[in-house]
Amino acid sequence: MSEFAQIVEKRRSVRLFDGQPVPEGVVQRCIDLAMKSASSSNLQPWEFHWVRTPEIRTQLVKVCFSQPAANTAGELIVCVARTRAWDRVRLHTLQQLQKMKAEGLSVPDAALGYYSDLIKKLYSVGWLGLLKRAYFFFKGLQGPTMRAPVNEKDMEIWAIKSTSLACQTLMLAFQAEGYDTCPMEGFDPKRLHKLLKLPRDAYTVMVLGVGKARPNATLLPRIRADRDWFVKIV
Ligand SMILES: Cc1cc2nc3c(=O)[nH]c(=O)nc-3n(C[C@H](O)[C@H](O)[C@H](O)COP(=O)(O)O)c2cc1C
Repeated sequence: MSEFAQIVEKRRSVRLFDGQPVPEGVVQRCIDLAMKSASSSNLQPWEFHWVRTPEIRTQLVKVCFSQPAANTAGELIVCVARTRAWDRVRLHTLQQLQKMKAEGLSVPDAALGYYSDLIKKLYSVGWLGLLKRAYFFFKGLQGPTMRAPVNEKDMEIWAIKSTSLACQTLMLAFQAEGYDTCPMEGFDPKRLHKLLKLPRDAYTVMVLGVGKARPNATLLPRIRADRDWFVKIV
């Protein structure tokens, strides 16, 4: 079995941790790896709120309904998707590309054009979203076309997709370091938003509990439904 396959096989959602903190270096390394995940247009719409303040942690556990995975985790990391923070990343990417070009590296003009102009039209919604919806409709009559994003909901889906990939990388990275995780969506999103003073465009994808599983933590065997239900050869 490949090393990767072993990590995937080993990762389980752990509901009882030993409560010991995870070394800072491990957490930092895993977050760095998570940030190497793929993201739509490389706009990296994720944020990782590593809760280290004891009072905030106590509140966060309550917000997670005091579920054992939250209560006993060594660390809690709140993984957040942002729908409107992309322009800062766009600008940074554009500046990096311009710098590379100035240094003599080959940078396609299409990439520069994309990050300086096209991308803004692609990811802007609001009144432009209404125009885009009409444009996509008529263009779609002629052939394949984009259909989204045209509104805030589309942007939420957009941000959650990429952030979820980063969450999976984060879990596998911890597993590779010998630490267990539990992804949790069992929390009160409103209270969590308030507790972490999240901005309006933030959507909490999951709270990740991290630590070492208790040796006697009772886990169900891994259950997966019939492969044929999910895998379609077309
Ligand atoms: C988005 C998401 C939310 C989840 N929320 C919770 C949760 O709130 N509490 C919990 O104990 N497990 C939670 N889980 C864990 C799932 O129950 C678990 O992944 C599933 O049963 C499969 O088990 P495995 O992860 O051990 O393979 C969540 C998993 C995901 C992906």
